[in-house]
Amino acid sequence: MAIFKKKQPKEVSLSDIVLPEHIGIIMDGNGRWAKKRGLPRSAGHTAGAQTFRKIARYCSDIGIKYLTVYAFSTENWRRPGDEIDALMRLFKDYLQESIRDFKDDSIVLRFIGDRTAFSPELLSLMNENEEESCDRDGMVLNIAMNYGGRAELVRAIRSLAARAAEGGIKPEDITEQTVSDNLYTAGQPDPDLIIRPSGENRTSNFLLWQSAYAEYVIMDVLWPDFTSDDLDRALIEFAKRNRRFGGV
Ligand code: FPP
Repeated sequence: MAIFKKKQPKEVSLSDIVLPEHIGIIMDGNGRWAKKRGLPRSAGHTAGAQTFRKIARYCSDIGIKYLTVYAFSTENWRRPGDEIDALMRLFKDYLQESIRDFKDDSIVLRFIGDRTAFSPELLSLMNENEEESCDRDGMVLNIAMNYGGRAELVRAIRSLAARAAEGGIKPEDITEQTVSDNLYTAGQPDPDLIIRPSGENRTSNFLLWQSAYAEYVIMDVLWPDFTSDDLDRALIEFAKRNRRFGGV
């Protein structure tokens, strides 16, 4: 995957292009952003959380239907305890804030990932946010927390295997559709565009099944510095891609 340079000029406006229905973002580079400033990694996450708020709002404003952000992976538990605590505090702050503002918002909040690992307090905020927002008609915002693409597939396979063992389905009934229907993102379209700031050329276990035909745009900007202009550039780059889905 090539790195899409930040300095590339913006040539067209968003009104001239077809926007993706579903965008995924790997919010990467918080640690490096903090290190560059001689700050603790948690300061990078705090700045990253602010960027997340702005970019989620911007995606909703320009009419994106689904946004999935990678906030905490199944592998992120390997980080030092103080960094994990700081991230959990940021999640809590955001979830409390979104409950407070829920009447003025049209965004539907969903959480994807294994939520059994979270504190009862965080868990109840997650449930409350989903319940409060489920009848809204705006952008669906999936926050991937304790999410891993492989773990998601194992969960789907186990569920299908259990149904087969009970005689509910036959192995040949298992199709790409039934697998999709057993993922956290069941019922949602696959991401068309995945943006990875910070220049890393990896999927990092993000939406492995769903991203089969996603266009990746890797950008050389650290997540806390990411702006709506950067998002526009990614959208314009996406619009130039010739998506063939395996055809010609
Ligand atoms: C990866 O950057 C980022 C994370 C593991 C955390 C992402 C979390 C946020 C943006 C803040 C909170 C989010 C919400 C939903 C309120 P990194 O730490 O791996 O950066 P590095 O590669 O530069 O070290």
